[in-house]
Amino acid sequence: MFRGAPPETPVPDRRRSFDSFELTPLTPHIGAEVRGIDLAKPLSDAQEKDVRDAFREWMVLTFRDQQLTRDQHKAFARLFGRLHSHPMHAGKHHGDDDEVLPVRTNADSKWTSGDGWHTDVTCDAIPPLGSMLYVTETPESGGGDTLFADMSLAYDMLSEPMQAFLETLTAMHDGAIPYVGAYKTTPPEGGYPKNEHPVVIRHPDTGRKILYVNAGFTSHLVGLAPAESRALLDMLFRHIDSTPRLYCRVEWEPGTLTFWDNRCTQHHAVWDYYPYSRYGERVSVFGDEAPSL
Ligand code: SIN
Repeated sequence: MFRGAPPETPVPDRRRSFDSFELTPLTPHIGAEVRGIDLAKPLSDAQEKDVRDAFREWMVLTFRDQQLTRDQHKAFARLFGRLHSHPMHAGKHHGDDDEVLPVRTNADSKWTSGDGWHTDVTCDAIPPLGSMLYVTETPESGGGDTLFADMSLAYDMLSEPMQAFLETLTAMHDGAIPYVGAYKTTPPEGGYPKNEHPVVIRHPDTGRKILYVNAGFTSHLVGLAPAESRALLDMLFRHIDSTPRLYCRVEWEPGTLTFWDNRCTQHHAVWDYYPYSRYGERVSVFGDEAPSL
């Protein structure tokens, strides 16, 4: 059905001009491409401030033309906090460096990381503040893009009564859903993490409200009957799936690093390149506080 009316959520006023680099928005709401800054070198105070400001405003920053060692990748991530270790490392499913999640897909892959809408590791009590994926190999066939969705805009687009109701709820986020259900890994002793978070949270820096449930990890809404929980989650997941205005699309090149704000976005890695190969490494940064409203 066509909408037939102007959007009630107008284009936000976001900064497009920075002294430290050239920024080109991917869409008016979310995502920007950044050129003219070398992340392999230590950033000056002015560069770091500009990166922080642009990150806060655009939520997804795609840095082009980078050539990073693993240590340089980690050093850039450490500017934003302590490095996170993915729960799948606890079961030794993912390489030898606990601070790096390899994202490798080829003709032998049974799955690729993140092939469905999700926020990273919301099964943790304090999920990562952000993740940085550095891609060094893109599929010869083309494809392998990643979609990112603005979850503050997703919240803003709901009706006021629905917003008010959702603000009263919490949801369970269960690591077994992706890591066992989809990826078929054996859980570590004690199982993968499972935690409850508010359905609507507030961004600690911008104060914007965020719809905080995702199809990757959210098992149910606490306190509702199973059928009510399923119907409401399905409605919210359909809202995300069926609203293109929420998205930007990152087209990777070898040497692209994308840094996303994991508190206010979801992403979906598109596996449209089978049997070709794609490779990147993801480093995530710990959040400072549990998600809250
Ligand atoms: C992920 O972190 O979910 C993977 C993203 C991607 O491969 O583009």
